[in-house]
Amino acid sequence: MSLDALKREAAARAVALVRDGMKLGLGTGSTAKHFVDLLAERMKADKLKIVGVPTSEATRVQAASLGIPLSTLDETPELDLTVDGADEIDAALRLIKGGGGAHLREKIVALASKRMVVIADETKEVTILGRFPLPLEVIPFGLDATRRSIEDAFKDVGVKGEMTLRMKDGAPFRTDSGNLIFDAHLGTIPDPERLAARLDSVTGLVEHGLFIGIASGAFLATATGIKTLGNVA
Ligand code: A5P
Repeated sequence: MSLDALKREAAARAVALVRDGMKLGLGTGSTAKHFVDLLAERMKADKLKIVGVPTSEATRVQAASLGIPLSTLDETPELDLTVDGADEIDAALRLIKGGGGAHLREKIVALASKRMVVIADETKEVTILGRFPLPLEVIPFGLDATRRSIEDAFKDVGVKGEMTLRMKDGAPFRTDSGNLIFDAHLGTIPDPERLAARLDSVTGLVEHGLFIGIASGAFLATATGIKTLGNVA
């Protein structure tokens, strides 16, 4: 089975969690895209009334094109369930997200939800986080000062690695909120809680891609079937 087919399998399992009347956070990325496609199909087939809050402009455009009723967190501040992908996930449901640059909105939406279920193919499962570069969304003002503060935070926590400014089409990548992203190539993050807490105190860093204590469950699609982590009931 292709990686894309595995992503769709994981998404299909999450779509089965959707109930009539739910308020849903809609994730971003290639796996979440399958979820949104399948959600639109299920809404039509089962005549479900749901409302979705997208975590990115890309997801908003996709969901709107499929006729999924959309809202914002301002109008709908409490969500029942958010379904989203991940770049890495460990056995404790700690995640690295932001490979697509959407982790700021993804985290806000996930935190506004009663539960967050991760959908991913098996390649995202790791024993220790950090092989995937950690995305750090920073405001453009004072970029070098913020970079130095982040390096100080890394030193304090005992991690190190190159930080690269994310580029797209020859120019710095801009998030949906107009910010920039550093990708920190740390290799390994032995204490994600400590790093997340330290990064939370860096001024100019809007949000990092560590999601800790946020996901409640996960569907991981493997060649031999779906593996579940945490609570996916
Ligand atoms: C978007 O910024 C990310 O957090 C995605 O959720 C994550 O990169 C997973 O994307 P894929 O499903 O495309 O791997």
